[in-house]
Amino acid sequence: MRRIFSFMTALFLAASCTPPKDSDRIEELLATMTLEEKIGQLNQYTSRWEMTGPAPENDTAQEVLELIRAGRMGSMLNVVGAEATRNAQRLAVEESRLGIPLIFGYDVIHGYRTMFPVPLGEAATWEPELARRTARVAAVEASAAGLHWTFAPMVDIARDARWGRIVEGSGEDPFLGSRFARARVLGFQGDDLSADNTIAACAKHFAGYGFVESGKDYNTVELTENTLQNVVLPPFRVCVDAGVATFMNAFNEIGGVPSTANHHLVRDLLKGEWGFEGFVVSDWNSVGELVPQGVAADRKEAAQLALEAGCDMDMEGYCFVNHLEELVNGGSMEEALIDDAARRVLRVKEQLGLFDDPYRYCSEERESSLLMAPEHMELAREVARRSLVLLKNEGGILPLRKQEQKIAVIGELAADKDSPLGSWRAQAIEGSAVSVVEGLQGAGDPRTITYERGPRFVVSDSTAFGSVPDINSTDRTGLKEAVDAAARAGVVVIVLGENCFQSAEAKSVSDIRLKGLQLELLDRVLEVNRNVVVVLMNGRPLDISSFIDRVAAVLVTWHPGSEAGNAIADVLYGAYNPSGRLPVSWPRTGGQLPIYYNHKNTGRPVTQEPNTFVSGYTDLTNDPLFPFGYGLSYTRFEYGDLVLSDSVLRADGTLEVKVTVTNTGNLFGEEVVQLYTRDMVGSVTRPVRELKGFSKIGLEPGESREVEFSLQPEDLFYFGADGRWGIEPGTIRVWVGPNAMEGAEGSFEIRGN
Ligand code: NOJ
Repeated sequence: MRRIFSFMTALFLAASCTPPKDSDRIEELLATMTLEEKIGQLNQYTSRWEMTGPAPENDTAQEVLELIRAGRMGSMLNVVGAEATRNAQRLAVEESRLGIPLIFGYDVIHGYRTMFPVPLGEAATWEPELARRTARVAAVEASAAGLHWTFAPMVDIARDARWGRIVEGSGEDPFLGSRFARARVLGFQGDDLSADNTIAACAKHFAGYGFVESGKDYNTVELTENTLQNVVLPPFRVCVDAGVATFMNAFNEIGGVPSTANHHLVRDLLKGEWGFEGFVVSDWNSVGELVPQGVAADRKEAAQLALEAGCDMDMEGYCFVNHLEELVNGGSMEEALIDDAARRVLRVKEQLGLFDDPYRYCSEERESSLLMAPEHMELAREVARRSLVLLKNEGGILPLRKQEQKIAVIGELAADKDSPLGSWRAQAIEGSAVSVVEGLQGAGDPRTITYERGPRFVVSDSTAFGSVPDINSTDRTGLKEAVDAAARAGVVVIVLGENCFQSAEAKSVSDIRLKGLQLELLDRVLEVNRNVVVVLMNGRPLDISSFIDRVAAVLVTWHPGSEAGNAIADVLYGAYNPSGRLPVSWPRTGGQLPIYYNHKNTGRPVTQEPNTFVSGYTDLTNDPLFPFGYGLSYTRFEYGDLVLSDSVLRADGTLEVKVTVTNTGNLFGEEVVQLYTRDMVGSVTRPVRELKGFSKIGLEPGESREVEFSLQPEDLFYFGADGRWGIEPGTIRVWVGPNAMEGAEGSFEIRGN
């Protein structure tokens, strides 16, 4: 079939940034640098007091300091605080031959000291503008503490809840993910990277890391070009267009090629076709890991493969610093490649203003006045409450009534002041979150609220990758007291789920059911009280099938950050009407994984008719427990019929899709109105639905609003069999509705001119 619109780079042209011109200063500097000094810029080492990867084997803190003095280090990670960064910077600036400042990087993922919801939770707001604002605050705090660069946003699309790092991204959808990716880059970087309150962002992990086989971290990835282009790459491309300063390689391979050595992906696509002018940092020792991955015989060959593929900076791998010089001097590598990498690193340093004032970001004064500033905490509460997703609310048990109800709050997580901070919590103070119990007691009448912990299942720990709970514990201490409290109460609020480090890097699971004695506790509570509200604290979708039909309400809260308890109380008591929606399909069981709404139809889709020979399970339906985009409110919304401005969308045309949404309940509420399309016939198979627009609107009781989306052909382009972006003439079905499985429906034709 002939494609009527095709284009190479037009898709994202609108937002494209103009590459910065190399300043004379950088060229002059490069000309004075020895080969060793240029290679020096390409190395990044961790501090010795915080490790976010396997510990280095061969060096001491003293040796690291010597590398700075010798000009053999361009960057450090995990050095934080105005004082510590100033001290390290002083060594580089005052004691190395050329005085080139270091760039300090850190994982500022969902806040620096003020913690916002984990990224997956933030995506559940469906409000990218909020993510821009939280990234802005994170940058304000981090930059005051001497940092220049965050390893965020993580824009990996993830479809498998077994993967512990699903918590760090925006979920399963490339459209939603791209909106959040862009917002976060703009938030961290602001409009002027040299301002002392903005930091460089880093799009990671390039690419395909979210597709690790069987959800196991660092595992192999099998990814077709079709999925890579249409699903995985769009959020990365959006980051380039938003002007992201850096990229990070991924640990995984695709098709036998580890990402850190993927010339096609990094040098040809990212730096070539997409015109990315910033630098690419490896992931932690991902250059060195080319050896066990089996594409390099030793670390010298690994250094060569990585640099040639386009990796500019070696994070904690010691491959570049130990081998690049030898490779160039031995004639195996062009010095021009080193120059290009060093130029890229120096350019970002210049954009940050480090050559004008290398200490501009270290300010004890700003550090003490800005960290956890009241307005930051206010935003943390606002975003947290907007990220909560109400999955079930039978008989209107929620919102809770303040006076007349006796409430038993149960579960170790309910009083946990640490787990709400989530993993990747940067410099959050251990135990600094408002717990659920504190939030409820503060918002309600403390005389009506009792708390019982129940059996322990959470072991919290302040290290970045703290220990996971003892999931095999059979210690039932506290169980009886909790059940007794439930029996005496009118309503039970039971907080279940995961502690902060159960969904994190290297924390994949084979089973997404609740761990420990949690299910037993819930069963026992349900025996004595049916008015049970489950508050889930979680970094990933969990299997709640065994109890969803038996409890009255389920509120998904993710790990909501510093203001967790207050935000949760706002929703439970109805001070805020929940408006969060799932950024991932919620599976019935782990056996459905990977699960995602934008799957292909197959030749034998499951239909209403009973049929044996279909693409499904014999013991379970295909549909998720709750679809992507789903979430309830304390009010109700009704959708009118779809109105299309035309029945045809032409090459240079626009089509308006309108629907009237009415709040038919008694409360003000916010609805996320979602637009999906399906391209019925393509040059390659197309998903059964794809998100193409969304809008969060607030409606008073009885109020109606017409919501309008505008579609242009480019919005429907996809990477086709011809290896280009475009679309063919044919029918497009369109839905506007509250989630990926419902909605008012229509269709139109795509035509040439
Ligand atoms: C490894 C992780 O994969 C990456 O996301 C992180 O930024 C680095 N460690 C640095 O901590």
